[in-house]
Amino acid sequence: MRVLMVCLGNICRSPIAEGVLQHKSDLNGLGWVVESAGTESYHVGEPPHRLSQKICLENGIDISHQRARKFTRADVGRYDLIYAMADDVLQEIHLATVSNESGGHIRLFLDELNPGMKESVPDPYYGGEDGYHHVFDLVNRTCDAIIDRYAPQAGK
Ligand code: 4NP
Repeated sequence: MRVLMVCLGNICRSPIAEGVLQHKSDLNGLGWVVESAGTESYHVGEPPHRLSQKICLENGIDISHQRARKFTRADVGRYDLIYAMADDVLQEIHLATVSNESGGHIRLFLDELNPGMKESVPDPYYGGEDGYHHVFDLVNRTCDAIIDRYAPQAGK
């Protein structure tokens, strides 16, 4: 299974989601490939935000090797699941793709935790460290829900 996490800058939210889901896949020997991208190019080539790195490391996950890249239309065909971290990101993905490409495999990330609620992971970029703790908690619980759905035999 190939999974892509997408946010705006690819330095705060989606790097955490990539790190957490890849970690859970590795722990369970699932062999999933988890990557991330951003719909904007401001931070292309940069490592994750220092507070995203910090919260992950506090939870035993090193994401320092990640580098931001921009989402491209070609990504649509390269992944089994594409998760938008927020509603504005989902709209951007749909604008960047043509309608017959953007099938059911492009979804709002938090729909896996609270189906149908259309919730977004709040952008922590302009706030303090607390925001990153909140994002990590949401991401962690949602990644457990993704594992339950697609690898129900796993222990997470
Ligand atoms: P992210 O957060 O989409 O979670 O990576 C942001 C990072 C940078 C900016 C906006 C959101 N920015 O405007 O530079």
